[in-house]
Amino acid sequence: MTNNQSIFLAGHRGMVGRAIERHLRSLGHGDILTRTRQELDLLDQKAVFEYLQHAKPHTVILAAARVGGIEANRAEPAQFLYENLAIQNHIIHGSMLAGVKRMVFLGSSCIYPRECPQPMKEEHLLSGPLEPTNEGYALAKIAGLRMTQYYHKQYGMQGLCPMPCNLYGTGDSFDPQRSHVLSALVRRFVDAAEAGAEKVVMWGTGSAKREFLHVDDLARAVLLMMEKVDSPEIFNVGCGEDISIRELAEKVAAAAGYQGRLEWDSSKPDGMPRKCLDVSKIKAIGFEPQISLDEGIRLTMEEYRQVKQSQPQG
Ligand SMILES: NC(=O)c1ccc[n+]([C@@H]2O[C@H](COP(=O)([O-])OP(=O)(O)OC[C@H]3O[C@@H](n4cnc5c(N)ncnc54)[C@H](OP(=O)(O)O)[C@@H]3O)[C@@H](O)[C@H]2O)c1
Repeated sequence: MTNNQSIFLAGHRGMVGRAIERHLRSLGHGDILTRTRQELDLLDQKAVFEYLQHAKPHTVILAAARVGGIEANRAEPAQFLYENLAIQNHIIHGSMLAGVKRMVFLGSSCIYPRECPQPMKEEHLLSGPLEPTNEGYALAKIAGLRMTQYYHKQYGMQGLCPMPCNLYGTGDSFDPQRSHVLSALVRRFVDAAEAGAEKVVMWGTGSAKREFLHVDDLARAVLLMMEKVDSPEIFNVGCGEDISIRELAEKVAAAAGYQGRLEWDSSKPDGMPRKCLDVSKIKAIGFEPQISLDEGIRLTMEEYRQVKQSQPQG
């Protein structure tokens, strides 16, 4: 029998998963099921199917994925495509077999074409070629999104498809190999300011524009969709404003008190020229971000300084 309250949150130790868990708990949802990668490797189909059959959650939130920056995506496109397809195939099909009622599939704004008109609307999906630097990841996300929609249609497993812009915030890793753009910038400029560095070299030209949303705002949007939406249509989730990477770097540098120069290595790729979401649909159901970019940068810097202080000095 399906337990009517329980939610299996896949990827609860990631930045998005942690935020969704915090928000679910703050709303009084106690029945949240989680498994670490060591307890349940989502690449293991048999283990995932068995777990879902045993746990029989009412809802599954898929916030687990292989995620990475431009360099990781360029170097290992096969791995990004394979792992993300495998994780979502196992979770979505296994959930249907286990009688799960609702699937929340976390997508990404990278599903939209490289030359997409801006701001990008939900209907622009599959209207042109993808950005080559993260095509493998984007193809997997498009397949997962369609799968969620098809399983809704064919099997009646309700699907929800939030598509977030670039996220940052509480619980992100500051490890340069794993961190997201904003945390990486915070670390670089706080460290450079403390070391009195004369220059910081940034990848690309700085001209690419990106939209940033604090992960707590994303969690609010996902919970709002769980309350108000019952169709598997895409809902873009963002603040609806973008900023160039150059401007962002300058903002972070100023907030960190960095006095040195900023240099741009234009031999490195910029990725997609612009990525700004049209967020009118999510706004129409009542979503409004609560954390401004300036406030978010301040919070992330505070968190990094705390993390740094708590680490043994090397
Ligand atoms: N961050 C963004 O800017 C952004 C933007 C748009 C969409 N999203 C979407 O949001 C979702 C979560 O992203 P995130 O930023 O939270 O990523 P993240 O911080 O890298 O977290 C991903 C989580 O997935 C888990 N995971 C990966 N492979 C696994 C496996 N084989 N078995 C079990 N667990 C596995 C990881 O476990 P470990 O902790 O063991 O590594 C980690 O906890 C992704 O679907 C991503 O596409 C993110």
